[in-house]
Amino acid sequence: MKDYSIAVIPGDGIGGEVVAAAMEVLAVLAERDGGFRLVARSFDWGSERYRRTGTMMPGDGVDQLKEFDAVLFGAVGARDVPDHVTLWGLRLAICQSLDQYANVRPTRILPGISSPVSSVGPADLDWVIVRENSEGEYSGQGGRSHRGLPLEVATEVAIFTRAGIERIMRFAFELARSRPRKLLTVVTKSNAQRHGLVLWDEIAGEIGAQFPDVRWDRMLVDAMTVRMVLDPASLDTIVATNLHADILSDLAAALSGSIGLAPTANLNPERQFPSMFEPIHGSAFDIAGKGIANPVATFWSASMMLDHLGEKRAAARLMAAIERVTADSSFHTPDLGGTATTRQVTDAVIDAVRRQNI
Ligand code: NAI
Ligand code: MG
Repeated sequence: MKDYSIAVIPGDGIGGEVVAAAMEVLAVLAERDGGFRLVARSFDWGSERYRRTGTMMPGDGVDQLKEFDAVLFGAVGARDVPDHVTLWGLRLAICQSLDQYANVRPTRILPGISSPVSSVGPADLDWVIVRENSEGEYSGQGGRSHRGLPLEVATEVAIFTRAGIERIMRFAFELARSRPRKLLTVVTKSNAQRHGLVLWDEIAGEIGAQFPDVRWDRMLVDAMTVRMVLDPASLDTIVATNLHADILSDLAAALSGSIGLAPTANLNPERQFPSMFEPIHGSAFDIAGKGIANPVATFWSASMMLDHLGEKRAAARLMAAIERVTADSSFHTPDLGGTATTRQVTDAVIDAVRRQNI
């Protein structure tokens, strides 16, 4: 019997609702599998703690997480706390300190789900977006001077390092190689950003030369949005900078049916530190507390966590259960045009896990 220690950070708003649902499903999966146990510890880090103590997490929060095998994260964000405080105080602080430099975002159209773009079907859209997760536009470099004066100034400096680009390119090429089509699209904006993104392009070429079996092409980010909508079948694995992939992956989530379905893994591929798994969405003020959040994004993220831990069979079981449930429109939550509740979807996935014979 293997034990995995999981740090659970539900965070704010619907984060708590979808993470609680995922923990129930994970407990049933472990019981069904019989070969592993998940030993979870929950942390009350988030906006409520910020209001009480002035910080989103304790000063040694990141060190506490280092002891765990993985982190399952919900979402942060509250109406009365500035977004840059919640994001930098928790999620970015964790990703950057644990060097989770590869943010992996699979996107496909699950059974029973339709894309808002009527010409796009399941056969047209099966992507993995790799987001550089440690530097670029979200390095946190910059500052403000002359506050309140007419000459007030703010800088936001994007940082691109050879080491940072090389490791994300290598990760993306390896991932592309592991997928049947062996096809990678490198997103750039080197026509306008002529320093950092020219280096980005050059290193893509250097690493690409080491992967002769992977076909790859380059797209400017603005044109990429058009290609994602009009020719999605021409794409497979995609690598982009922190900001570009942040935006493109929300577009990808919308194209695949709902942001309530979209998962992500923040990986430290060398496994020097724990990796973190979370839905892409935020705390969703408009639906928080109503019991109607779509838990599928978090279930899919939990499946990615099991896969990362090495529990491939349980990961596949969870994915199969999710697909069985999305195929039935009576289990669609309001974001998918249905009337199902988080509870109903969770119960249906648990039921599918118990009954499937894989
Ligand atoms: P959001 O992702 O919270 O919500 C956008 C829209 O999608 C809303 O209409 C919401 O109801 C819907 N939605 C999101 N997740 C859903 C789910 N599971 N089921 C059904 N519908 C869902 O993004 P928004 O509104 O821009 O931000 C709200 C707060 O969340 C802000 O404070 C923002 O900073 C934060 N945020 C945090 C993230 C994180 O923790 N990783 C990511 C994105 C936003
Ligand atoms: Mg985003």
